[in-house]
Amino acid sequence: MSHPSARIAIAFHSGYGHTAKQAEAVAAGALSVGATAELVALDELTDDVWATLAAADAIVFGAPTYMGSPSAVFKAFAEASSKVWGDDLGWRDKIAAGFTNSKAMSGDKLNSLVDFAVFAAQHGMIWVGLDIYPGWSDSTASIEDLNRLGSWLGAMAQSDADLSAEKAPPATDLRTAHALGVRVATVTQRHLRGALAA
Ligand SMILES: Cc1cc2nc3c(=O)[nH]c(=O)nc-3n(C[C@H](O)[C@H](O)[C@H](O)COP(=O)(O)O)c2cc1C
Repeated sequence: MSHPSARIAIAFHSGYGHTAKQAEAVAAGALSVGATAELVALDELTDDVWATLAAADAIVFGAPTYMGSPSAVFKAFAEASSKVWGDDLGWRDKIAAGFTNSKAMSGDKLNSLVDFAVFAAQHGMIWVGLDIYPGWSDSTASIEDLNRLGSWLGAMAQSDADLSAEKAPPATDLRTAHALGVRVATVTQRHLRGALAA
């Protein structure tokens, strides 16, 4: 049973819609185990954005990998969040996780996930990775395997450069993003129960 009040915010940027598909899959995963999930686009840093993040029990960070790191829009958000950081670590003890998408299989996506994890640590948050063995990594494996890009730090997706967001990233990567949403919601539920018992 999931904790009904586990609130998962997905704070993301997507320049051309591909990473937004991943964000929607993370949200669907969280919803599937009874949490609430809210998509928070970071293009405009309104009061509503900050209020939603303040109210969340978990924040999942997501951005496309641009030039080997999270997109500039995400980095602007990260810098603006220093106000929350300065207010006695306003996101302390929230659960954190991350996802990223890019056109190359690697594309240096790991660097974006590391960036998210460091960012979360600076905020005193608790990082949750993927608990899935790497797929598509032996001779009988399939591209349809969960975690086909083999990341533990967070969910990765790959979008062919000539495909629109209607067609990329592929369903296999969206299933992996969904699994991250399930895991974050489940861990957040446990975290909330532990806080109630303490
Ligand atoms: C400015 C820019 C930089 C990019 N840098 C990378 C990169 O470092 N590695 C990579 O694999 N793809 C790179 N890409 C491709 C994007 O990550 C890819 O098109 C992704 O699907 C875009 O996601 P979005 O539609 O959510 O913006 C770059 C694209 C742009 C526009």
